[in-house]
Amino acid sequence: MESLQKVKETLKKYDQEHIIKILEKINKEQQEELIKQIETIDFDKIEQIYINKDKKNKDCKIEPINYTDKEKLSPKQKERLEKLGESIIKNNQYAVVTMAGGQGTRLGCIGPKGTYKLDIGEKGKYIFEILIDTLKRAREKYGTEVYWYIMTSEDNNRQTIDFFEENNYFGYNKEKVKFFKQGELPLIDTNGRLLLDKDYKIKMASNGNGSIFKSLRKSGMIRDMEEKNIKWAYICGVDNIMVNMVDTLLLGLAIEEGVQSASKSVKKSYPEEKVGIFCKRNGKPGIIEYIDMTEEMIYKKDEQGELIYGESNIVSHLLNIEALKEISKHDLGYHCAFKKNSYIDENGNEVIPTKPNSYKFESFIFDGFEFLDDMAIMRVKREEEFAPVKNATGIDSPETAKKIYETFWNNKIKK
Ligand code: UD1
Repeated sequence: MESLQKVKETLKKYDQEHIIKILEKINKEQQEELIKQIETIDFDKIEQIYINKDKKNKDCKIEPINYTDKEKLSPKQKERLEKLGESIIKNNQYAVVTMAGGQGTRLGCIGPKGTYKLDIGEKGKYIFEILIDTLKRAREKYGTEVYWYIMTSEDNNRQTIDFFEENNYFGYNKEKVKFFKQGELPLIDTNGRLLLDKDYKIKMASNGNGSIFKSLRKSGMIRDMEEKNIKWAYICGVDNIMVNMVDTLLLGLAIEEGVQSASKSVKKSYPEEKVGIFCKRNGKPGIIEYIDMTEEMIYKKDEQGELIYGESNIVSHLLNIEALKEISKHDLGYHCAFKKNSYIDENGNEVIPTKPNSYKFESFIFDGFEFLDDMAIMRVKREEEFAPVKNATGIDSPETAKKIYETFWNNKIKK
């Protein structure tokens, strides 16, 4: 009773009276669950995020950033860099971190995106299975099993772990695989009110891939990496089926350039392509999403006719442990997306909106790069390293990804 009273006061203080009405209507068990959930919510933080949602970083100075084109490296340079990287892999000082906490809404898949099966090969292949293939190839090549950390969400954690168990980790060593959960935030309507879900819980959503730094720390994974003497972590998305998770060249480049971080880019296909672009933000490495680019930035070319802002982000970021630790101490801020979300109104009826009605708040991994002094960027070939599975049909769909994947591997076999 005491906690009910306390929660009611909090809700009143933060203008969330509609939830009090629901609390009074639902049964005891539901009430207890909802109270428990409300007690974990940091209302001050949410209020601040909501109030600041329209503030953009206006005085941000954007400049082009240098990159190394893998294609232009001589065989000798490549050999030298690969050797540097190889020593890290062979000494077991390398880990892969896959961000698999996204919702996969655009793909329309039910369950974790990594469990999506693509029409590849005779029996089809799951995305997670394709990612494991890259670790198995590294095992063969370097004689070592790379550690793999997988970031899941509150929503998909259980399902992800079960999937790996059921499939016996596709023949990889399960001792090398760890799962950890990312954070989440409530959805908020245009009046700053929390939404209620069908199960009479506050409607939550993953709080963006920028959550990775704090989640790695809070879950004890950074400590785990330190105990294992891991020096470098390669962070990637779950949806690129051409991802090369163990890249000695990228590692070597970071080591040789003496930087804490290195990322891979591909050349933008056409100016309007909807991708994030590498740049310098106030002198620090960064990425600007297509939506935040000005017309001038989108079309500006250099004397050779190349786009000045043309290095696309493929969510392949290598960071050393010191950088991970440093970034994890900072709040990255939130970007907000206005979306359609169904909810339960104060009379207990489900409302399915026909137009966007609420905000989802996400932090982005690359906002953490402002805490780095510098970063090496390596341009790789799109047809060799980038085949994202994002949409159900059309661009970046299972169909386009399959085509890139099969062309690459068929050519490899022929060689
Ligand atoms: C992302 C990049 C964009 C890039 C594009 C290339 C970010 C913020 N944006 O955009 O610059 O050009 O990929 O394909 O990185 N994820 C989580 N938890 C979350 C949200 C996302 O783990 O809360 C994971 C997703 O599962 C995915 C990755 O992060 O593996 C990228 O997220 P997504 O939302 O798909 O980003 P895009 O909008 O496609």
